[in-house]
Amino acid sequence: MEQTIRVGGHARGLAATGRTDRWWVGTLLTLLGLTGFVAYATWAAFQPGHFFHDPYISPFSSPLLFVRPGAAGAAPLQHAWFGAWPSWWPSWLPASPSLLILIFPLSFRLTCYYFRKAYYRAYAASPPGCAVGALPRSEYRGETGLLIFQNLHRYALYFILVFMVVHYYDTFWAFFRDGVFGVGVGSIVLTIDAALLTLYVFGCHSWRHLLGGKLDCFSCDASSRLRHGAWRKASILNASHGLFGWLSLFWVAFSDYYVRMVSMGRIHDFSTWG
Ligand code: FES
Repeated sequence: MEQTIRVGGHARGLAATGRTDRWWVGTLLTLLGLTGFVAYATWAAFQPGHFFHDPYISPFSSPLLFVRPGAAGAAPLQHAWFGAWPSWWPSWLPASPSLLILIFPLSFRLTCYYFRKAYYRAYAASPPGCAVGALPRSEYRGETGLLIFQNLHRYALYFILVFMVVHYYDTFWAFFRDGVFGVGVGSIVLTIDAALLTLYVFGCHSWRHLLGGKLDCFSCDASSRLRHGAWRKASILNASHGLFGWLSLFWVAFSDYYVRMVSMGRIHDFSTWG
């Protein structure tokens, strides 16, 4: 009878497995999805203009810290938190507002418990699937190699909560052009973006822990009962955290693309403003 050497539930060697399903489809889709997003987001981050079309601002550029007046498709100066583009900015880098803020959503997504699994599988083949052989390495250290970086997630959460509030602020003003209330396709696109980000963030493991995960008693007093209720709601979202992670990732890129295309005049934004 043939003998198969198994290590941790799988045969030895890269992609070796006893699984008979198409386990590689999810890994391949993850690879394509993440690569596509990174490629688009990198390109967009280096574009100095076309992140604004009144009253829409791309979520890639918000909060808008500085703006270079006169740049094509840039927001008016009064939209920037700190005014005109700073003189200390290196001349070899484009004056792109995204470059100033990208580190916050990037660090949040990169250290997300769901996305860690996704890119460990898709890029590092460590392992490429459940019960599937990993890329051979001299020493397996689990997550300890990047542990300090990955532990930043709880701090990145605080920043992303601020970003969420800013996105809702932008969404609110996306319904007003020149002080007149209206609805455009862009208003709806940005509203969906803020909603998906909320569903993603409020299902975050760190957020859930903050709400009630560290409580020893769920029913001791009114405060713990309240926090238990919030923890349970976060747990519902947490069960679909990966799904909301992907939806919000896709939609934030689409929102940037939509605002960019409208700003460049390539797409007409149908709206009640005419
Ligand atoms: S665990 Fe995914 S966002 Fe926190």
